[in-house]
Amino acid sequence: MATMENMATRTTRDARKHLWLQFTDVERLDKMGLLVMAKADKAILRDVEGREYIDGLAGLFTTQVGHGREEIARAVADQLTKLDFVSLFGFAHEPAIELAARLAELTPGDLSVVNFVNSGSEAVEVAIKIARQYHYIRGERNRIKIIARAGAFHGVTFGALSATGVRLRRAPYEPLVPGFVHVPPPDGYHTYPGLSEGEVADAALRALEETLDFEGPDTVAAMIVDPIMAAIGVIVPPACYLPRLKEICDRHRILLIIDEVLTGFGRSGKLFACEHWGVVPDIMTMAKGLSSGYQPIAATIVTEKIAEPFEGSYFQHGQTFSGHPAGCRAALTNLAIIEREQLVKNAADVGDYLLSRLQKLHDLPLVGDVRGKGLLMGIELVSDKKRRQKFPDAAEVGFRVRDRAIELGLICRSDNDCIILAPPLILDRIQADRVAEILAQAITEIGESVESP
Ligand SMILES: Cc1ncc(COP(=O)(O)O)c(C=O)c1O
Repeated sequence: MATMENMATRTTRDARKHLWLQFTDVERLDKMGLLVMAKADKAILRDVEGREYIDGLAGLFTTQVGHGREEIARAVADQLTKLDFVSLFGFAHEPAIELAARLAELTPGDLSVVNFVNSGSEAVEVAIKIARQYHYIRGERNRIKIIARAGAFHGVTFGALSATGVRLRRAPYEPLVPGFVHVPPPDGYHTYPGLSEGEVADAALRALEETLDFEGPDTVAAMIVDPIMAAIGVIVPPACYLPRLKEICDRHRILLIIDEVLTGFGRSGKLFACEHWGVVPDIMTMAKGLSSGYQPIAATIVTEKIAEPFEGSYFQHGQTFSGHPAGCRAALTNLAIIEREQLVKNAADVGDYLLSRLQKLHDLPLVGDVRGKGLLMGIELVSDKKRRQKFPDAAEVGFRVRDRAIELGLICRSDNDCIILAPPLILDRIQADRVAEILAQAITEIGESVESP
């Protein structure tokens, strides 16, 4: 009979041989060993060898309501038994209609017409296509450009990747889609160090205005913005930035797309992050927390003003699985749980508590900055705090901290030596304490080994 250990070894070997992992440096992974997860409940993941971890990433910024919700599993099973599949190509079904109406209620302002897809990248793809076609139908056919920000991550399909401002992700696939232009992010840590919040906003918006002057504002269809930029280490913008950006877009009749794929559904302590700054976009994308990952489903929601011209023309887009009944049912049940259990409020409360615990890590030599909003936070690791200097990539400091945290029982990630956390919105204070303790230990230990190799 196979022992537990044999089985685990075989699973790992098969995974290594046949399973193409996503965005994974497998050589690095081989040093650490592959974690094969077997079970999950609430905020805890358990691997095939029975070790437990706090899921400090909510799957992938996704599992807002936590793992193991039978209520969602049952709702999905009931839906599949009743009506397994019908496309939205000229047909409809009740869960899609119900979910679209619910999203119109929940999103801010007059966002009200929903196009379903299956992933965040596709939601962004749809947003870009809607923006271009909106101007095309209305006769402004030279409004084709999309302004995005350096450092933003918007997905991996060609349109979404063209909006993405991360060189590493883009380089192997160039040339990308023409007409995408990037401006600096409102990043007071890396891009504009030493400036006040207001000065950071001024500098980033001045760069935007200069770019618009150069490109010609009447050639621009839309600007896409992720309200809190997780990809460059959880950059929370200055308070005046988004409202002023919206004014600039409105002045030039440029549509504003807010990408809430990562920040939506309570992650930042509001249902949608743009609500922190009272900004309503023309188009909003959402995915991840929409179903808490129980089924793949994503959406792009637009205002009536944007949808209206499509009545006389039509949107040349559709995918077989978009708005799958099981996905819609999972999302509806997930949204009911978020509301019933007041998880957005919990994200704000426990988020503030965890952030204040993590702020204490500032005393450690490696920690350059700690920032975040709600249950989304980043800890910047640096070799020189004063000069905000990063370690050389080869030192792999962020990866080593992440690997040590995982050994100690916390799943987190490292992007460019910034440790990123986004636990399920059900996290309690005791678990928050444990997250802070593990990170303190991991950063201290790696710090000591970096200082005296
Ligand atoms: C802001 C943002 N937009 C889009 C995407 C792409 O979503 P997906 O991985 O579901 O395609 C992501 C993924 O992390 C994201 O963070």
